[in-house]
Amino acid sequence: MLELLEERFRGAFACPTCRGGLTGAGQDSHCARCGRTYSGSAGYVDFAPEIRMKPGLGPFYMQDPLHVTRYEPATRDAFLDIMGENWARELTPSVEDDYLRAGLESAEGLVLDLACGSGRWTRTLMRQLGGGRVVGLDLSVAMIDLVRAALPELCVVRGTALRLPFADGSLGAVNCSNALQLLPDPREVLREVGRCLGPGGVFTAFTFRRSDRPAYRYFQRRHEDTFSVRAFPVADLVTWLAAAGLELVDLRTPAGMVLFTARRGAGSRPD
Ligand SMILES: C[S@@+](CC[C@H](N)C(=O)[O-])C[C@H]1O[C@@H](n2cnc3c(N)ncnc32)[C@H](O)[C@@H]1O
Ligand SMILES: [Zn+2]
Repeated sequence: MLELLEERFRGAFACPTCRGGLTGAGQDSHCARCGRTYSGSAGYVDFAPEIRMKPGLGPFYMQDPLHVTRYEPATRDAFLDIMGENWARELTPSVEDDYLRAGLESAEGLVLDLACGSGRWTRTLMRQLGGGRVVGLDLSVAMIDLVRAALPELCVVRGTALRLPFADGSLGAVNCSNALQLLPDPREVLREVGRCLGPGGVFTAFTFRRSDRPAYRYFQRRHEDTFSVRAFPVADLVTWLAAAGLELVDLRTPAGMVLFTARRGAGSRPD
């Protein structure tokens, strides 16, 4: 529930439909502007009651209670190997931890783990920043059930990355690990991140880059088609970040992956 956050951060939430302010009524959140109520009866606020994940085998696995318990121990690594050419394990969980810790060291304010999944890296953020400063968001009920069991002190909400339930400029940092490739409109997701970050706010992310080796690209394409995911030309990510008002601070490309850190500029917000 939202009470798991420090009180000073609870006002960051806004109606994902009209961006109006929210008031709490019991477990629910109510928007005075458009009249919608977002239920908290499941033990977390559902900010996307009518939204379902895009179709496809990858999205199916992210929502399948039989698979989600296998995601962190097994399929995540296998996915990194195939999509990210991570056969030599250039990227390991502890390398990811170190990257997040370094990128978010100076972060102030409320920190969002966007598409937090079952929470392995959300825990890293909580350990570094403190539990009352971190909020996890995911669209999959199965993932949310798992992360709530693993991290009962974490504030988790159900929502979509395309319409974040936060006011303009209300977040100090956003992390999005291993998810942009699965989200329906990554360019729009970056714009949402840019909208919600305050000036100087930090964005860290890890996703996959398009292989420039034709044989491997063929292999990657088959995986993309099968699981409804994508790998990005790095130049596209850089362009989309700039369009979202996010200035690139660091970009690394271990094997076929891309890790980057960007910072919200002080200039105007994206429309
Ligand atoms: C591959 S998992 C990544 C989980 C975690 N961040 C990690 O690094 O392991 C991708 C996550 O994106 C979530 N997801 C898919 N579509 C989403 C959307 N539109 N909005 C928010 N989360 C979404 C899935 O439920 C899943 O938990
Ligand atoms: Zn509203």
